[in-house]
Order: sequence, then structure tokens, then C-alpha cells
Amino acid sequence: MNITFIGSGYVGLVSGIMMSHIGYNVICLDTDQEKISQLQKGIIPIYEPGLANYLDANRLKFINNYNEELRDAAVVFITVGTPSLPSGSANLQYIFEAIDNLTKWISKDCLIVIKSTVPPTTCNKIINYLAEKNFSHLVASNPEFLREGSAVHDFLHPDRIIIGTNNKAAEETLKLIYAPLVKKNIPIISTDLVTAELIKYASNAFLATKIAFTNELANLSEKIGANIQDLCIGIGSDTRIGHKFLTAGPGFGGSCFPKDILALSSLAKNYNLDCKVVDAVIASNEQRPVDMVDKIMSIMNNNKIITMLGLTFKAGTDDVRCSPAIKIIELLLEQGFIIKAFDPVGMENAAQHIKHENLFYADNAIDACDNSDAIVIATEWSQFKELNWDMIYTKVRSQVIIDLRNLLADDVIQAIGFRYYSIGKPYYD
Ligand code: UGA
Repeated sequence: MNITFIGSGYVGLVSGIMMSHIGYNVICLDTDQEKISQLQKGIIPIYEPGLANYLDANRLKFINNYNEELRDAAVVFITVGTPSLPSGSANLQYIFEAIDNLTKWISKDCLIVIKSTVPPTTCNKIINYLAEKNFSHLVASNPEFLREGSAVHDFLHPDRIIIGTNNKAAEETLKLIYAPLVKKNIPIISTDLVTAELIKYASNAFLATKIAFTNELANLSEKIGANIQDLCIGIGSDTRIGHKFLTAGPGFGGSCFPKDILALSSLAKNYNLDCKVVDAVIASNEQRPVDMVDKIMSIMNNNKIITMLGLTFKAGTDDVRCSPAIKIIELLLEQGFIIKAFDPVGMENAAQHIKHENLFYADNAIDACDNSDAIVIATEWSQFKELNWDMIYTKVRSQVIIDLRNLLADDVIQAIGFRYYSIGKPYYD
């Protein structure tokens, strides 16, 4: 079967490459010429561990314009971006541009599948839009649940596959496409278009709620002398709650959770509904970097030089979009601090997002710690655990670590002599 992906961002590229791996002839189209020419040379323009191993030139082609090569596609997946508008709602401009462009080329039997995260009712709007232009393509919703940094694993071992359709033939086509994965006992959940679209928003909003809840309990734990890690083991051991997404930190970031919860809230408001839980999660997460900066400032006394270890929104990615680390740096710079920053893979992206006369990007973690008054760990890179902390102890000006990810082992770090502050745990001097 021939499959085309429109949009080669994280979702489109990972899904396209992996679909070719499970046996399909895949064309990935992106209008970004630079990105496509890199891919044509076998260079993957995103940092996604393991993805390069699945590049198979025999079944995979990269193109940068809409042309007759789309005619043979049985299915076109749309995987373009849906960024937030100032109102919080999703911008669907790129989706409709893709529809306009691809309908010039695809056959009338080609199934159009929306994989981008779109507000519920978008597929119905697309169906009406196509009808106005006298096209009668079937349209399906097939939301994606890949996580950056573990997208290859997530593609091969999804918890479930969601298929939203209003037509049996469209449902059967999508089931056929995913048949190689379903052999591994992965459930396919078939539903209507609107429900499939809402499942995506609801999943991200629920996970974001778990994180915001945990972060608020971390604040409380610090005040009353409880331990957030033990607390989360305690509540997560209830199988109705589960252990995942109960790790306290500096707030959730990335290109999905912050955008999708805003879009869900905005969608509800369009129907005169208040999504009070979702709105509280948005407010709680916006407050989180401010709380982190208050915590850092309360520890700093009058010292001014801070080392930031970690810039990406989580470990395993080079993505700094909505990264709490970047927000914290911005707030600290406003307060007149000098920041020496290091990240194993996110430095290039960070330097494009944030430049300042008092922000210095170091070549490595050790240099970033040189002569510093406090080390803040903002991303949970495992490399940071392996650093030579005995040596760092001798290089810093004040032996202070503020670990916003609870990454380091308290006892080891305290035994070296550091004053070690973590999240949601009492401080022992
Ligand atoms: C998220 C979802 O997990 C994917 O299922 C979904 O496909 C994707 O959004 C999307 O909509 O495209 P991702 O943004 O890659 O994936 O990152 P996550 O691993 O979910 O982490 C999001 C943020 O939450 C990060 O800043 C992370 O540090 C934070 N987090 C996560 C916590 O603070 N605590 C946790 O326990 C888990």
C-alpha cells in the first residue's frame, strides 16, 4: 500500500519512517526545502533516539512539493502543525492549506486521515469543506500518542490505536494499515470522528492534570515535611491511580500539553462551558516556574551566578518549546542573575530561543559549574547523575544544588558536602 504523510515534523517523520518499516511504501512531503534535502541525504533533522536505524531508502521517499507522485497514494495522513492562536484555540490554517494542495493530485478513492492534533469537529468541517469543492474523499481521525524521545518505542508498542470514522470502508482501511502492530495484541478502538478527536485532547489534559496535582502536593510536602517521592509511590500503587506521570518537577512543557490544554479550554468556552479543572491546571502550570524562581531566590542570598543544567522541556529531546528551564532562566535574568547554562543536546535550539548579555552557554557541564553560586538542575538528563560531583564541589564558589527534578541521590550528594535542595522533600542541613 502507498501512504503519504503531509508534514515532516516529529509526528509526521516518526510515523512516516516507522510505517515504511512495517511494510508500506511511504512518501513524506514537507514544504521546508532544507529539511527535505537533509532527509534525502539520510540526515534526520530532529533529535529522536533510534529513528535513524529505521530509514529505509527502498520504501521511503522525501519530497518538498505537491506533485503527481501523490496520485498513487491509497491513504494520505495529514501531520502538519496546529499551533495555538492568541485566543488559545488551535490554528487550522496549515491543515486546510494541505487539503487544498493535496486534492489537486490525489485520486478520488484516497482516504484522508487527520493525525495532527485538532479540535473536535475539525474532521466534520473538512468533510463539509471538501463537499463545497465537489470532492467526496473519505476522512478519518487517527490521533497520535508518541512521546518525543521515545517515539520509536511508542510507535511499535502503543497502548492503543484510536480510529475515528463515519464510514466502514475508512475504518477497514485504517485497521488494515495497523494490522502488523495489532498482531502484538494492541487494542484498536474504533469510534466516531468527534470522539476520536476528543480522546487526544482528553488524554493530554488528563496527564497534565496528574502532573499539576503532583506539583501542588510537592509544594505542600515541602511545607509539612512530607516526601513527594514516597507519597507518589504510595498513591500510585493504587492501580486505579497508577504510577505514571506522578513525577514532581518544574512544570510540564513541550509542544503538546501546554497547547492542547489551552485548546481544550477554548473549545469548551465556545460552547459556554467552563472546564474548571483544565483551567486550574493551566493556571497551576503557569505559576510553577514562578514558584521555582522564588525557591531559587530564597536559597541564593545575595549571590548572583547560577548554573542551569538542562534546557530542554524533558530529557531525551532537543526540543526547548515551552521548556520550564527557559522560562525560569528568563525570570532569573529579569532579577539580575548571571546564568551559565548547559544541555547535552538542546543548546542550539535554546540559543535560538533566548539570548541575553547575562546568559552564557558553556561547552560542558563542568565548565558551566565553574565559580558558580548555585547549580540548578532543570532537566532530568541521566548524564547529570554521572557527573563527577566530587570534582564539581571543588570548582563552585558556593556548594549549593537546587534539583528541580529530584534527579540526584540525596545521601550521596550530601555526603560530598553540598547543600542539596530538592522538590517536595524536607531540607536536611
Ligand atoms: C505528550 C504525550 O505524553 C504524548 O502521548 C503525546 O503524543 C504528545 O504529548 C503529543 O500530543 O504529541 P511529550 O510532549 O513528548 O508527549 O512529552 P511527555 O513525556 O508527555 O512530557 C510532557 C511534559 O511533562 C514534560 O515537560 C515532562 O518533563 C513533564 N512531566 C511528565 C512531568 O513533569 N512529570 C511527569 O511525571 C511526566
